[in-house]
Amino acid sequence: MAIITAQRRFQRLALLAMFCLAGTYLLLYRLPDRPLMESWRTSTYVPSSFDWAHRPQKHPIPESSITDLPKGSPRQLPRIQHGFSKEELTEAHNRTQRERRDAILETTKRAWGAYREHAWGRDELNPQTMNGADTFGGWGATLVDSLDTLWIMGMKKEFAEAARFVGTIDWDSSTLTEISLFETTIRYLGGLLSAYDLSGEKLLMGKALELGDMLYAAFDTPNHLPPNAFHMRKAREGLLFANTRESIAVIGSLSLEFTRLSQITGDAKYYSATEAIKQGMERTQDSTKLPGMWPTYIDVRNGFLTSDSSFTLGASADSAYEYLSKMYELLGGLDRTYETMHTKAMDTIKNRLLLRPMLPDTDAPDILFPGTVFANGAGGIIDLVPEVQHLGCFAGGMFALGGKLFGSDEDVQVGEQLARGCAWAYESFPSGIMPEIAEIIPCGSESNPDYISPCEWNETRWEREGDRRGRFPKPWRALRDRHYFLRPEAIESIFILYRITGKKDLLDVAWRMFQSIQEATKTAFANSAIVDVLAEAGQTDKVNSMESFWIAETLKYFYLIFSEPELISLDEYVFNTEAHPFRLPNLGK
Ligand SMILES: *[C@@H]1O[C@H](CO)[C@@H](O)[C@H](O)[C@H]1NC(C)=O
Ligand SMILES: *[C@@H]1O[C@H](CO)[C@@H](O)[C@H](O)[C@H]1NC(C)=O
Repeated sequence: MAIITAQRRFQRLALLAMFCLAGTYLLLYRLPDRPLMESWRTSTYVPSSFDWAHRPQKHPIPESSITDLPKGSPRQLPRIQHGFSKEELTEAHNRTQRERRDAILETTKRAWGAYREHAWGRDELNPQTMNGADTFGGWGATLVDSLDTLWIMGMKKEFAEAARFVGTIDWDSSTLTEISLFETTIRYLGGLLSAYDLSGEKLLMGKALELGDMLYAAFDTPNHLPPNAFHMRKAREGLLFANTRESIAVIGSLSLEFTRLSQITGDAKYYSATEAIKQGMERTQDSTKLPGMWPTYIDVRNGFLTSDSSFTLGASADSAYEYLSKMYELLGGLDRTYETMHTKAMDTIKNRLLLRPMLPDTDAPDILFPGTVFANGAGGIIDLVPEVQHLGCFAGGMFALGGKLFGSDEDVQVGEQLARGCAWAYESFPSGIMPEIAEIIPCGSESNPDYISPCEWNETRWEREGDRRGRFPKPWRALRDRHYFLRPEAIESIFILYRITGKKDLLDVAWRMFQSIQEATKTAFANSAIVDVLAEAGQTDKVNSMESFWIAETLKYFYLIFSEPELISLDEYVFNTEAHPFRLPNLGK
């Protein structure tokens, strides 16, 4: 027995040594030169147990039909950030922001510490029962998603420890038979690429490349377009098909990550794969039931059919729009198609989707929200539903960033109205936080479809359309989902608006938001999603959930808004939809 065990151990050691050699090979020969941090040379790199890079394609793409990254030197893009002057950044200003930033750091350390102690290597910490849960592949979603946050906040020791863990991730050890292509791309691949961009640590890039090669198999389908459901075994065997009903967010939000992967590795195939999606989107943009936008669900299998009739900036659509201007940025302005697509989409949103709430105050703030449209195409009949989603709160940042990039002051202003809309919504609820999904009474109505122009408060309308039982604050007429899931979109837009406009009151807006969130979501050791934003902040029921985006996104944006404006400047980085900053190719504006 002993001999067999020793033999087995030897075999295992030999296998491990082989893996490590293969890993070193991978790191040394497939990756570009970037400074390698001293401390990493001794880290163990264990390659995944299946080599996706050399998996034979079932539906091979000939070398000749791979689209190269756009050639030429990057265009000079307009400056995005406000030029903060020395006079603006006084000693007192700096001190206040530093104190606020330190409070965010403290909250992050607490949440990270709890995760590290009770859920290390798991996808999430359950912040009430204090155990781990696997929800996104089981490779340590919170750990990978948090890497760049740790780096940005100067938690270098924690970063080093987490990165060492990353070196041992086996993408083929998932506890799930099927994973989400979208979530894995934005959280894991985005997280690794960004952590590499910031730290230059090759071990992270090695794992990003392994994962990229795995996810690339999602495109090995008869029409080379991917399904979101990435079934591990079927993917290996090339048995995946694009879906007949896929959300546009899934299909439209792979481009930034796959493009960054191509830029870093010099291998265009990842970029080329998502380029085919862009072409489908470009081809169909003008012929949907709401031209300029894409329906929430499309048929990817049968040639990108867009006959669905719902249009939103919320769930299942959001980042498809967010990525248009961001791809223009990441490609150094060399693909003007993205500018055209972005501009068309923003025009349709401005004309059809936006609404102004009817507000009770006499000096009502100048705010807007995106609603949801149902369009039947034929007679041009559209129905605007005044549904406000927390997920849609990213729109303020999208309009402002696009406005700066493409020289539209109007869009920067719309961005501010949208960002301030969500901030206002936060303050209108007892907890100081807006809910996941709610309905508001808009200025316009079916008989008067001017939803944008300011209007006066109409008590008769409130009595008729508002909640009969008087449970909701004015002018909210229904709460479809009262949770707050620790989401980032509202602070994301406030952060972008602050960096773009330099308006100081946004810092106070952000601080009030943070205090409410902290008060309402704090648990004994971390933070948790809450059941009902109608509860007073100190008396909320928790749902025992802290998704990876709490540290990856929400706390990062809070930290950055209170930091010096040069930290992760919007002129040097573009954020993916999981708040992972990718380095832009055109520095030195
Ligand atoms: C207020 O709303 C009611 C009910 O919708 C409507 O009949 C009335 O004309 C409105 N009043 C004003 C001043 O717009
Ligand atoms: C405040 O901080 C900024 C950096 O964000 C710095 O440039 C400026 O000099 C500081 N102001 C004072 C008065 O120290």
